[in-house]
Amino acid sequence: MMDKTYFIQTYGCQMNVHESEKIAGILQSRGYSACESVDDADVIVLNTCCVRETAETKVYGHLGRIKSKKKHGATLAVCGCMTQQKGVAESLVKRCPFVDIVIGTFNQYMIGEYIDKFLHTGVRVTEIWESPNDCDKHENIARDSGVNAWVNIMYGCNNFCTYCIVPYVRGRERSRSIDDILRDVDNLVASGYKQITLLGQNVNSYSYKGKNFIDLLKLLDSDKKYRLRFMTSHPKDFSVELAEEIARSRVLAHNLHLPVQAGNNRVLELMNRRYTREQYLQKIDAIRSLVPDIGLSSDVMVGFPTETEEEFCDTLDLVKRVKYNNLFMFIYSRRSGTPADKMPQLDYKTKQQRIDKLIKAQFEISKELASNMTGSVVEALVSEKTGDKCFGKASNDSAITFVSADAKPGDFVKVKITNSRNANLTGEVYNG
Ligand code: SAH
Ligand code: SF4
Ligand code: F3S
Repeated sequence: MMDKTYFIQTYGCQMNVHESEKIAGILQSRGYSACESVDDADVIVLNTCCVRETAETKVYGHLGRIKSKKKHGATLAVCGCMTQQKGVAESLVKRCPFVDIVIGTFNQYMIGEYIDKFLHTGVRVTEIWESPNDCDKHENIARDSGVNAWVNIMYGCNNFCTYCIVPYVRGRERSRSIDDILRDVDNLVASGYKQITLLGQNVNSYSYKGKNFIDLLKLLDSDKKYRLRFMTSHPKDFSVELAEEIARSRVLAHNLHLPVQAGNNRVLELMNRRYTREQYLQKIDAIRSLVPDIGLSSDVMVGFPTETEEEFCDTLDLVKRVKYNNLFMFIYSRRSGTPADKMPQLDYKTKQQRIDKLIKAQFEISKELASNMTGSVVEALVSEKTGDKCFGKASNDSAITFVSADAKPGDFVKVKITNSRNANLTGEVYNG
């Protein structure tokens, strides 16, 4: 008999990407193997996101296409953040009779049992839990991110930024045991992963039996050759101590994602971000003085309810002042059940004009920073190779292409940057 196969479609953030690796692990331990196309799969899983309306529209669009493409008898499951929202599972079950299994974020580790139940009874399964119930038992993770391995250090979020749905669909903060994290990282490095990325909605809040995030980073420092990254760090909790640890550590990458969201104090307060523009800029100064070659990235939102043109200009000004290597820019999207959804909204055209201005400004900045890097020598971690063409990332997260017959994925290679085109760097192997 042919192997049973699965196809997983993932939407959203790194957290979801990693969770799909866990789901793949569960399916593989039950005898399923991955297949390339949704048309051939016996089990199809959509791991969804709902952070913006566009994310949900994509899921519904994809569901429509799968309906006509999936083979007869295939099982279709929808899980993730979208289905964990109040009322969404019920409406999905009604709207999409071809969806067999609907589960939320807190019980998706049970997906194997739910598939069995559906296959035995033929009765659709809808099960959404109100809160997590220790979902941290993952022995077989089917990792699929090349030289990088994701490691959760915590789940959930307590911050309740007023625009954000995440705390409602991921629950309150809970930290994993420090021993489990250390064991995971040790095993991954021993088995050849060259980059570990620690995951949490707000890694600075990590807390386990009196140990905090900086204690964890100190324990992860090592003379073994690997690169350590983490995301996401909340500016209100980002401390000089953490900047010092980035400077001191042998393994931490010189890169920091510090999402500012807005550059105006009234807007920041309405967002419940709990820092001011001035405090944020001070933290940027602190990290830049301790780690001069730090690569910075951020998330910024335009068109938050009641944001004036002047207030938007403060955001634009902050972006031009900080000069991020990489910026993720979003139009504010209403999320049902969040406080910002009840505030007076801006029209679409205003929001669109603002994001256009921001994108234009950032394009110039990324270009400038990339061109400033020409002539410098960096250490690239090779992640892909086609022919002799290698692709990798520097410690500051800049993407670099270079030619080498010898280098292979997983190698750290010294590269001299020779050229830049927009934000893309090219270089050559440096033998100095
Ligand atoms: N915990 C992380 C990730 C949150 S989601 C953090 O706090 O940084 C990733 C980004 O999506 C956020 O930083 C924010 O910029 C954006 N985002 C969240 N809710 C949004 C909304 N309602 N509309 C538009 N963008 C949103
Ligand atoms: Fe959302 Fe704010 Fe939590 Fe990030 S810190 S997940 S933006 S509530
Ligand atoms: Fe991530 Fe989207 Fe959920 S950003 S936490 S998958 S809502």
